[in-house]
Amino acid sequence: MNDKLRAAAEEARLRAYAPYSGFLVGAALSCQSGTVITGCNVENISLGLTMCAERACVAKAIGQGENSFRHLTIVADTDEPVVPCGGCRQVLAEFAPDLQITSWTLDGKKQDFSLSALLPIPKQGILQVPRGT
Ligand code: THU
Repeated sequence: MNDKLRAAAEEARLRAYAPYSGFLVGAALSCQSGTVITGCNVENISLGLTMCAERACVAKAIGQGENSFRHLTIVADTDEPVVPCGGCRQVLAEFAPDLQITSWTLDGKKQDFSLSALLPIPKQGILQVPRGT
């Protein structure tokens, strides 16, 4: 399964749209149903609108009716495995605060993370309606 997810993320990475950074990222999200959803980063000329591979995976999964996530695999061509950015941590935690994440470099260096360690307490107090309203 590990190999399958890594291969899927590598394949997705090659579809990245990253003309501004030249930095290609692929991700593969395995769901409880057994489905694997892949994603890549999608950049924009208005740079702040860029979407990371991890977030692209989540959007695609939800749109396909998959909202129970088992494992996220990431691949990038770096010296050290990429760690998801803060924004993606929050988006992933919306659906799977305890998600297990494996990040690979292209030449096979691997690191495992748990989302709960990368982003503890992702939701406390957020959007609580203030008393008296
Ligand atoms: N990027 C991702 O897709 N995932 C990460 O975990 C790190 C960064 C993308 C966003 C942007 O297109 C490029 O990599 C450089 O930050």
